[in-house]
Amino acid sequence: MIADIVVKNISQLITLEGENRPRVGKEMMEIGLIENGILAIKDGVIKYVGQGELPSNIQMDNDTQIIDGKGKTVTPGLVDPHTHLVHGGSRENELDMKLKGAKYLDILKAGGGIHSTVKSTKGASFEELYKKAEKSLNTMLEFGMTTVEAKSGYGLDTETELKQLRVAKKLNENHPADIVSTFLGAHAIPTEYKGNVDEFVDIVVNDMMPKVQEEKLADFCDVFCEEGVFTVEQTKKILNAAKKYGMKSKLHADEIEPLGGAELSADVEAISADHLVAASEKGMEMMAEKGVIADLLPGTSFNLGMGKFANARRMIELGVPVALSTDYNPGSCPTENIQFIMTLASLRMKMTPEEVITAVTINSACSIGRQEEIGSIAVGKKADLAIFDSPNISYIIYHFGINHIDKVIKNGQLVVDNGKIINV
Ligand code: NIG
Ligand code: FE
Repeated sequence: MIADIVVKNISQLITLEGENRPRVGKEMMEIGLIENGILAIKDGVIKYVGQGELPSNIQMDNDTQIIDGKGKTVTPGLVDPHTHLVHGGSRENELDMKLKGAKYLDILKAGGGIHSTVKSTKGASFEELYKKAEKSLNTMLEFGMTTVEAKSGYGLDTETELKQLRVAKKLNENHPADIVSTFLGAHAIPTEYKGNVDEFVDIVVNDMMPKVQEEKLADFCDVFCEEGVFTVEQTKKILNAAKKYGMKSKLHADEIEPLGGAELSADVEAISADHLVAASEKGMEMMAEKGVIADLLPGTSFNLGMGKFANARRMIELGVPVALSTDYNPGSCPTENIQFIMTLASLRMKMTPEEVITAVTINSACSIGRQEEIGSIAVGKKADLAIFDSPNISYIIYHFGINHIDKVIKNGQLVVDNGKIINV
């Protein structure tokens, strides 16, 4: 076999080898590190992973692209399982309110926050939404993310929810990065349904969901289960209905108030429960028992000035699989920089560099059900790689706020070089 691409002399090749399932407890420390690593790619697939030289059955010719990995760290392409990628407008106007002490849920209650982005998203054309999301996705790819989940939730009416999901679908078709879509019709209560939430829930379930399914626009369904937004009961109703439409459950759970979202995620056997800053001990225990992935979003705690982060250490101790996400959105976390999130996870939630890497690769792939194709560097998996201009993973976390990516390979194609997109 003649390889298309060979990456050799890799200072630290982080394979995450092992079973394609969420890693828990001490397993999160086992990252499959190979020093002086080498790997070969053919037809978009990883064909060899090892140390030193290639075996005799894998050759190189003049067309083989050879990449020198000296001084570099190579990881699986990073996976972001929680973003609000497609939306209109921005909310820098909230900065001043925040500095004066306004709280996230108070701004929402007063008709700002998510409602303000709903207005901008309704007012934006398909092309405008596409262009804006594409720009963010380019940035994400440059930061090493090769697969990104994208939620709807800034329509709160059928037409706009579908518009957002169609934008994500088209981006997935056209962009080198892969997008996995989540329907989040229950992201806020539209002002006109304030006194009549059950009627809105009915629209989400009986009008939006069948249309989302008809066009196969989403693999997952999410709900913002939070004080003053959707109750545990309403969330349960929505997620159970989504199952009938073939969508697996995700939740914005216990982000601000301890409402019982973690417990509910175990109850409905969600694939993930996200945020969990206020999750109870009991809720975390229940998640561990049911294998619900905790998708933690420390950028949101940071940006909202919550003074509190999710208890990642306790979750890892209890055996809850932990993943990490940007939560990229225009309100609570306007950043595409997953590497900064990795730093926050380590410095603020005390996750080790090994746990952080596990959380942004194999565990995040599991959080969107893609662990058979991505999330580790193994023979037969998609050739999605992040090549960092860093001698080891600790350096990426320690030297914070910048982009450490040198190259990104997506489906066996070089798509980022010198930290900048090519071929798009
Ligand atoms: O994950 N909390 C709900 N949803 C987003 C924020 C959305 C927004 O503020 O626009 C989150 O934090
Ligand atoms: Fe979110």
